[in-house]
Parts: sequence; structure tokens; C-alpha cells
Amino acid sequence: MEIAALGGSLRPSSFAYQILNLALKKIENKDIKTDLIDLRHLHLPFCSGATNYPDYPDVALLRQRIQAAKGLLIATPEYHGSLSGVLKNAIDLLEEEHMAGKVVGLIAVTGGVHSTNALNTLRVICRQMHCWVLPEQVVIPQIEESFDEQGKLKDFHLEKRIEELATHLVQATRQLKQG
Ligand SMILES: Cc1cc2nc3c(=O)[nH]c(=O)nc-3n(C[C@H](O)[C@H](O)[C@H](O)COP(=O)(O)O)c2cc1C
Repeated sequence: MEIAALGGSLRPSSFAYQILNLALKKIENKDIKTDLIDLRHLHLPFCSGATNYPDYPDVALLRQRIQAAKGLLIATPEYHGSLSGVLKNAIDLLEEEHMAGKVVGLIAVTGGVHSTNALNTLRVICRQMHCWVLPEQVVIPQIEESFDEQGKLKDFHLEKRIEELATHLVQATRQLKQG
């Protein structure tokens, strides 16, 4: 069983990816293989509605890695009250067959106040692609103030929420796979 993770930022020091790395460590501690799909390292076109993108081999790679995973963790920054465009574009490059049947856990980071706008939209997108989205989700507001100088999350409760989301993702993925 493998859990993949997808982040919605191209920023070199992206907080969304920092949180994903934290969550993936918790999943790996349960002896589960993980695959961090880092959009900063993929060369992807804008979705044009084409079926294949022969000039962009990373599209096939993205599809393959997503499809191979049984569960998926997505972390997006909130951009103007929604998910980031780069994440939406990456998802638009996928087809339902690459996502269908996967259990999905959702995380958002925001520069401002707590908001579920991005995750509500992502939830609708994942439903459209026939995924099983966990009811639990994590939003981290004022993300820039959330880490200490050692790069650790200041709020112990937040770290616990991420751990719980990771645990539920593994449990639900296992249950669905066995069923
Ligand atoms: C184009 C853009 C739009 C943003 N819109 C919002 C927003 O609507 N609400 C909010 O709280 N933060 C907003 N932010 C702040 C980001 O959510 C915040 O900087 C986040 O850390 C970015 O994620 P990253 O560190 O993974 O790149 C916006 C940032 C950008 C660049």
C-alpha cells in the first residue's frame, strides 16, 4: 500500500510542503510507503483539454504516480479564497481513472485567518473524481507564525491534528483496500 502526497505551491520554501513532509513522516512511522509528488520538480503544461501531452512526459509520470497510490494527501495554500491554480491545473491534467477509488486527506495553509474555502472546493473536486474524502481535515491559519526557529510547529495540538489525519488516512485506505 502506498500513500502519495501532492502540494499546491511552487514556492521554494513552501509551508504546504513543510506540512506535507511532517504528515508523511507520521505515515512512514506506520511502515507505509509514501511518494511525495512535488510540483516544483515537475515540468507540467497548462491543461488544454488534450488527452495526452507528448511534449511533457511529466504529465504521464504525474498520472502514473497518482494512480499507483491507494491513498492521497493534498496540501494547498489558500489563494484568493480557494485552492491554488497550480494545484487545480495539476488535477485537471488527471482523468477520473487516475483518482477514482482513492482515499483523500486534505490540508490547507493560509496567510490570514482560518478558512475552509479552499478545502470545500477541493472536496467537491475530489468527489467529482470519485474519491473518498476523509471528513476530518486540517487548516493552519497564519502559517508564517506557526513554526519555531528549529522549524517545528509551535502548537502541539496542531501537530496532533496532523497526526490524527495521517492515522485516519492510513486506516481508511486499509479498510477500503481490504473491502
Ligand atoms: C496569489 C495569492 C493569494 C492568496 N490568497 C490568500 C487568501 O485568500 N487568504 C489567505 O489567508 N492567504 C492568502 N494568501 C497567502 C498564502 O495562503 C500563504 O502565503 C501560504 O503560506 C502560501 O503557501 P506556501 O507557503 O505553501 O507557498 C495568498 C497568497 C498568494 C500568493
